[in-house]
Amino acid sequence: MQERKRGRFIVLEGIDGCGKSTQIERLAERLRAEGREVAVTAEPTDSASGKMLRAALSGADRRGPCEMAALFLLDRIYHNVSENGIEAMLAKGIDVICDRYYYSSLAYQGSETDFAWVRDMNLACPEIRRPDLCLFLDVEPRVSLARIAASRTSTEIYEKEELLEKFRARFLEVFAMLKETDRVAVVDASRDVDEVAEAVYRAVKENAEI
Ligand code: TYD
Repeated sequence: MQERKRGRFIVLEGIDGCGKSTQIERLAERLRAEGREVAVTAEPTDSASGKMLRAALSGADRRGPCEMAALFLLDRIYHNVSENGIEAMLAKGIDVICDRYYYSSLAYQGSETDFAWVRDMNLACPEIRRPDLCLFLDVEPRVSLARIAASRTSTEIYEKEELLEKFRARFLEVFAMLKETDRVAVVDASRDVDEVAEAVYRAVKENAEI
């Protein structure tokens, strides 16, 4: 029997409210329509550390930036190597689309504590796989906060305009820093949903050998 080709590992990133969830669903549907098997996943996961992260993100628990960075790291390792994790899916030939990954840790925790420490523990970890492609849904915080306000009643600790400005700039710096090792496509996500979906799909076709 012919060996099955590995799946593609695609990450979507962006500040809170950039429209990631909708675009991930649209991309998954489109790839499935081409006959590919697709698994959609997200960080934080539902692991023990993921649950601790959710409690901290909601403001119910207070945790410092180093604790947050370490919890995200632990959750990410679990996400890679657990029984139905990223590695297992890719090995079965399933494409994995992941909502946030280490770029978020570098942008968010990296701007709140020692950047090099956060970068190195993520990028040098043998059990944290590099994605085939990262798509950054780029939108101004003004727009993303309006989307959050229209769609939800509760907000999380990072959802404030000045903070999101800082994280957006930080994401762009992180991508510039990783340009030799990571393939990143920046998509203008301020347009309407269909236009963004088309741009995301095109970026995947051009960059991820799908
Ligand atoms: P979530 O509710 O999943 O938000 P979204 O739908 O916007 O992705 O919460 C994820 C939050 O966690 C978001 O504010 C970004 C933050 N985060 C980090 O700070 N570091 C990380 O490594 C990851 C994966 C997420």
